[in-house]
Amino acid sequence: MSALLLYNQPSPQFDARQAQAIALLKRVAEAHGPLTQASSLGAEDMVVTHLVHLAGIESGVFVLDTGKLHTETLALIGKIEQRYSRSVEVYRPRNESVIKFVRQHGEEAMYQNVALRKQCCDIRKMEPLARALAGKGGWITGLRREQSSDRAAVPDVVQEAERIKVNPLADWTWGDVWHFIARHQLDHNALHDRFFPSIGCVPCTRAIAVGEDFRAGRWWWESSDLKECGLHVQPATTSLPPSETSPA
Ligand code: ADX
Ligand code: SF4
Repeated sequence: MSALLLYNQPSPQFDARQAQAIALLKRVAEAHGPLTQASSLGAEDMVVTHLVHLAGIESGVFVLDTGKLHTETLALIGKIEQRYSRSVEVYRPRNESVIKFVRQHGEEAMYQNVALRKQCCDIRKMEPLARALAGKGGWITGLRREQSSDRAAVPDVVQEAERIKVNPLADWTWGDVWHFIARHQLDHNALHDRFFPSIGCVPCTRAIAVGEDFRAGRWWWESSDLKECGLHVQPATTSLPPSETSPA
């Protein structure tokens, strides 16, 4: 089933949202550079990469390649590099940490308990994320409020301990995301055509059934209040009003 046919349903606010996202990126780039985009290579992130291009701002783009990503996901790195004539930075976990963890707990440790699952996410995502963000004034994500109840209050811009985080799609709907993909003829992850709306690592992602939540296919064996890997869990943060995202 084609995701484009299924999901391309813009909201009445689509044009305004696109314009606001571009304006936000421009403001933040001026006030908080250097910026970098965190791309999981899912639908939202393909949209954000194109918004950055349309905004004409300076920003890197990086992928945390956990060593457990689908080939369908990895295939998009080359497509981005070709389309935008730029390189995508790929951050991988430290080999010795992965080897030690797998030797101790096995390849399927994530299913044993939440602590081991989080340890795997720490080694494969969080430590590489710290390297990807070092020296950056801000990072750009594809987070949307609609994705889960935990994300219902995602702000457009938030001040984290060491840098700013920008979520230009915070108020976009899934239909907006796919309308943008159709309108700008963007590549998309083939797994979206197989009912994977939210895509992470192979062992921790499955397709969803009709009526299931957007993130039901992520860490599906865990209770729903624990389903974050840590990338977007920051204890002390403050949302910034639009005026504070502008240069002084
Ligand atoms: S996660 O925390 O559950 O994995 P999700 O898959 O919803 O997050 O993605 C939310 C945002 O986190 C993405 O839009 C992207 O900005 C960032 N992100 C998630 N996974 C990666 C990854 N492997 N590499 C880079 N950024 C990522
Ligand atoms: Fe490990 Fe799963 Fe976390 Fe990927 S999502 S880093 S495989 S526990």
